[in-house]
Amino acid sequence: MLIDGEVYRSCTVAVGDVGGGDKIVTIEGLGSPGRLSRLQATFMKHTAFGCGYCTPRIIVTATALLNENPRPTTEEIVSAMDANLRRCASYPNIIEAIKDAASPSEKREG
Ligand code: FES
Repeated sequence: MLIDGEVYRSCTVAVGDVGGGDKIVTIEGLGSPGRLSRLQATFMKHTAFGCGYCTPRIIVTATALLNENPRPTTEEIVSAMDANLRRCASYPNIIEAIKDAASPSEKREG
């Protein structure tokens, strides 16, 4: 999840540690089935999936990356996604999906 734009593991954040003014965004907040975020759409386009636990975390982390750096290099993507990429997921597809979603001028939620 994102708290004020920073990536956090949901299972490590106690509810009491989150203040009333913090903006919390989860995968559900990035888009909906009829209105996918750009990253959700490019992940679909590139068949860039891990399991049901990893895919939301990967997309949320990629969202934070593109908000911080809208035009990352492949090396920057790999570095930013380092803790999220597993051999069991479609690693090259995930990198391509993130590159496809990258845009030089947009700041986005996902
Ligand atoms: S454990 Fe989630 S994709 Fe492998």
